[in-house]
Amino acid sequence: MATFAYATAIAAFLILLPLSCYSESILDHHHGDRSSSVPQSDVDLLEFPLNLEYLEAEFFLYGAFGHGLDTVDPSLTLGGPTPIGAQRAQLDHFTRDVIEQFGWQEVGHLRAIKKTVKGFPRPLLNLSAESFAHVFDSAFGSPLNPPFDPYANSINYLLASYLIPYVGLTGYVGASPKLQGATSKRLVAGLLGVESGQDAVIRALLYEHANLIVKPYGITVAEFTNRLSDLRNKLGRTGLKDEGLVVHEYIGAEGKISGNILAGDKYSVAYDRTPEEILRIVYGSGDERVTGGIYPKGADGRIAKSYLKKE
Ligand SMILES: *[C@@H]1O[C@H](CO)[C@@H](O)[C@H](O)[C@H]1NC(C)=O
Repeated sequence: MATFAYATAIAAFLILLPLSCYSESILDHHHGDRSSSVPQSDVDLLEFPLNLEYLEAEFFLYGAFGHGLDTVDPSLTLGGPTPIGAQRAQLDHFTRDVIEQFGWQEVGHLRAIKKTVKGFPRPLLNLSAESFAHVFDSAFGSPLNPPFDPYANSINYLLASYLIPYVGLTGYVGASPKLQGATSKRLVAGLLGVESGQDAVIRALLYEHANLIVKPYGITVAEFTNRLSDLRNKLGRTGLKDEGLVVHEYIGAEGKISGNILAGDKYSVAYDRTPEEILRIVYGSGDERVTGGIYPKGADGRIAKSYLKKE
């Protein structure tokens, strides 16, 4: 009986094998012919988030492993410059495990977008500790002493990560109603799902320690997140679209609760952001025409480029 089942399984495998190879090659052919399934109007909207996916991939890969796309898969960079100042973070075992997974997920996201649209090379990314310290100083309105180091320990790294997938998440929500093609909509929904998941994991890990005092600053984890969210709201210049982990009750779900493990509007629906708002935030300038912050030379793609003065 067991032998029969085994033989049947093998036979089924042998019959299905050529079929699965066949369907794979149809898929590859389909994706090889990129433009056919993606309307031109969608291309810019799908290319813009590559800027953020490059950032996420490099921040998480370096944080976990101490190396990034240049080691993992140089072909994904299309020759774009190596990030400035990215480091392996001092993480506990559990946090490193999570961040390794995020790193590989971001590599997948880069592949998914590049299978669909042509894309562009990795932009110059300033992932130095100083670059993050500058964001944190802006969030508090005065320099933290010593300067905040995102790579120093797990809590610092998670606080820096709090800045990373959420911007992409709001961008995908913002892009979704503008997309025309089914392939584009499917891709953005899929990317949004996993970005939200990463954001939720980061927020949950921080929420568990919301009252922890971050050394040596004497400031709680919750206060850090509130300040960072306020900064993004200010830079985005479109009101409340970003919320820390502990908020006034009227901002929490149904206006009923101050714990705020996930950000959302008054219906607990995710906020959206336009590419312009995102550029204001990631440039740290509050202006989509003034580059800086994590992108010293600006973001790439037609949308971001349209705001940069010709040299
Ligand atoms: C990276 O950011 C830091 C802090 O803002 C800055 O001092 C440094 O010059 C930046 N590097 C580049 C190449 O822009």
